[in-house]
Formats: sequence, C-alpha cells, structure tokens
Amino acid sequence: MAAQQVRGVIAPGKNEPVEVRTILVPDPGPGEAVVQVQACGVCHTDLHYKQGGISDEYPFLLGHEAAGIVESVGEGVTEVAPGDFVILNWRAVCGRCRACLRGRPWYCFDTHNAKQKMTLEDGTELSPALGIGAFAEKTLVAAGQCTKVDPSVSPAVAGLLGCGVMAGIGAAINTGSVTRGDSVAVIGCGGVGDAAIAGAQLAGAARIIAVDIDDKKLATARTMGATHTVNSKETDPVEAIRELTGGFGADVVIEAVGRPETYKQAFYARDLAGTVVLVGVPTPDMKLELPLLDVFGRGGALKSSWYGDCLPSRDFPMLVDLHQQGRLDLAAFVTETIELGAVEQAFDRMHQGDVLRSVVVL
Ligand code: APR
Ligand code: ZN
Ligand code: ZN
Repeated sequence: MAAQQVRGVIAPGKNEPVEVRTILVPDPGPGEAVVQVQACGVCHTDLHYKQGGISDEYPFLLGHEAAGIVESVGEGVTEVAPGDFVILNWRAVCGRCRACLRGRPWYCFDTHNAKQKMTLEDGTELSPALGIGAFAEKTLVAAGQCTKVDPSVSPAVAGLLGCGVMAGIGAAINTGSVTRGDSVAVIGCGGVGDAAIAGAQLAGAARIIAVDIDDKKLATARTMGATHTVNSKETDPVEAIRELTGGFGADVVIEAVGRPETYKQAFYARDLAGTVVLVGVPTPDMKLELPLLDVFGRGGALKSSWYGDCLPSRDFPMLVDLHQQGRLDLAAFVTETIELGAVEQAFDRMHQGDVLRSVVVL
C-alpha cells in the first residue's frame, strides 16, 4: 500500500502562521504504528516550535498531546494491536540502558521515534513535534510511544496525559513524592501548576498553597484543589507560605514558572529538609545566585522534574482509571475543543492566558 493522504497542521517556517496541509503518512515499518488521532491538546511547546525556540528543522508537523486508535502496526510490534485506544508519549524507551535498568527510564539514553518520515506531497520531510506530530488525522510513531488505556475515557481528556497534565501531576506524585499530610506549595498556576495541585490532592496533601500573580489563575487553582492562595504581586510568597505552615515552610514546593525569582522563592519557601521540585523550564541565559550556607544549611532536596518523571505504561492507565472513577477531574483542564484549522487562534488565546487547554478533536 502507498502512503495515505491526510490533513495535518504544519509550521512552515520561523514565526510563520501555521497551515493545514495534505501530508503523506507511510505504512508502518518494523516497530512502528500508524495511529488515527482522535484528540490532541495545544501546548506551549507547539508554539515554541513555531516561534523557533526549540529547533530550526522546519517544516514541523505540530501537536504532541494526543490520544487515538491504532490503525495498523509494522513487523514485530507486540506492544499494541490495531483497534487499541492509546495515549502517545514523546519517545519509546529502550529498557536496556543504565538509566532504564536503574529504574529511571525517563532518562533513557537510547530513546527512539518512528524511523520513517511523514512528508508533504512534494516529498519534503516533516519534523514531528516531540516525535509525535498529532495535529493530523493520522500519524506515524514508534509502537513503544503508544500506551493502551481504558477506551471508555474521552479522547480529549486522555490526550492531555501525554504532556502538560502528566508533567504537573508527575512533579507532585513522582518527583516530589508528596504523601498524606504534607504541606505543598505550587508557584505558578497555569496548566502545569494546576495539574501539580491536582496531583498533590490525589497524594493526600493536607495543605495545598497556590501562588500566582494573577487572581483569575488563583480562582481556578482553588477548583483544582488548592486550599490556600497567595497573590505574589501583593504579598511576599515566602513569608505567606511560612505563615500558612506554622512558621516552617512547605514540605514540598513545586515551581511551575521557570524564572530565577520564582526558583528562589521555591528554594526559601521549603521547610528545613523539604523538597523543591523544579518543573518550569528556564531559558539558557537565566542564572540563580544563592548563598552557599543557605544551600548547605537548609538540607533537603532540590530536584528537577522531567516529563513528570513518568513511566507511561504505569502512569497513563492509572490516571485514566482515577479519572473514570471520579477521583481525579481531568476534564477540568479542557477549556474548549476546536477543529484542526483553529490552532493558530488557539495560540492567540494561550498568549492571553484565557485557556488551560484548547484541544483539537478529530
Ligand atoms: N510568580 C508567580 N506566578 C507567575 C509568575 C511569577 N513571577 N510569572 C508568571 N506566573 C504564572 C502565570 O500567571 C501563569 O498562571 O505562571 C503561570 C504559567 O502558566 P502557563 O504560562 O500557562 O504555563 P504552563 O503551561 O503551566 O507551564 C509552566 O512549566 O513545563 C513548564 O515549559 C513549561 O516553563 C513552563 C512551565
Ligand atoms: Zn507539551
Ligand atoms: Zn533506556
């Protein structure tokens, strides 16, 4: 069979508007799968690809927070079969390298995506965003990028677990190891911070303090499980977090902004021997200066969280189950569903800070 023609959203060049184009999806080769995409969330990272902040290998096939149905698989694929409902992850891990064998597969040295390329009609090769490229009716991935989950969940909700929501929940439950009774502070309450709040609640945190500079975001954070809110434009957040934790500081502080001043707040807002979890991604020019005696004297742990330190095969089905049981409200993250042709407008709304997630539904 020849390649299939489907519609997909591409970023043709730096800062150029995205376009819906015909793309060619080859039949899956060994270890590959073609997935019929049902939903794909619009994430900041897609915008960064368009703006040129990540790589200059244009054109990109955007979209990477996706769920759908496996249409066909290539030779030797045992992970999934046609008809399976799956959530896609960024990279298949090898299972054999030192990181995998040491129980840290999210730092795998030998991850892979599909070997074949999707192309435009004229043969131009596409770079799929985060190895996925799911603002498209169908996409080609490595079979190991597919995780089978309960098919009764809504695709729009399931897809979100493929990136931002997993990053936030995982920061709390995997990286921060939040446990029952903990006090947790979350600095920055966008989609990722809100997911961290939901994760802290899931893990049984007693107090969840949300910090943001925008009252609108703080109001949403309350609906996600925050028990206290602090507007850090008006109040010193370190003081406020100490006050709300009996003068001590939080057991776990999660930073979900990615700026030096908020990294510093996170560092000082933790209890002695508490844990700081860094999720916000800084830019290459940013620096943080701290007195060494404070680093030494406060003890505890300073951790960064990569993709929520998740193991997709363990975490995706678990979180889908919790959602289906009504114990984790992932639907609250879906602000709106949109068509493939409306991604550019969704980027504008993301800029204005009005949406948690716009989700393309196919
Ligand atoms: N102090 C507190 N909150 C802040 C500050 C600040 N100085 N500056 C911005 N914020 C808040 C914004 O008001 C917003 O609510 O941080 C939030 C950031 O949210 P989004 O822009 O929606 O970003 P999000 O998708 O949640 O990602 C946050 O995590 O994974 C990383 O790359 C991602 O660095 C980004 C971060
Ligand atoms: Zn993303
Ligand atoms: Zn590995």
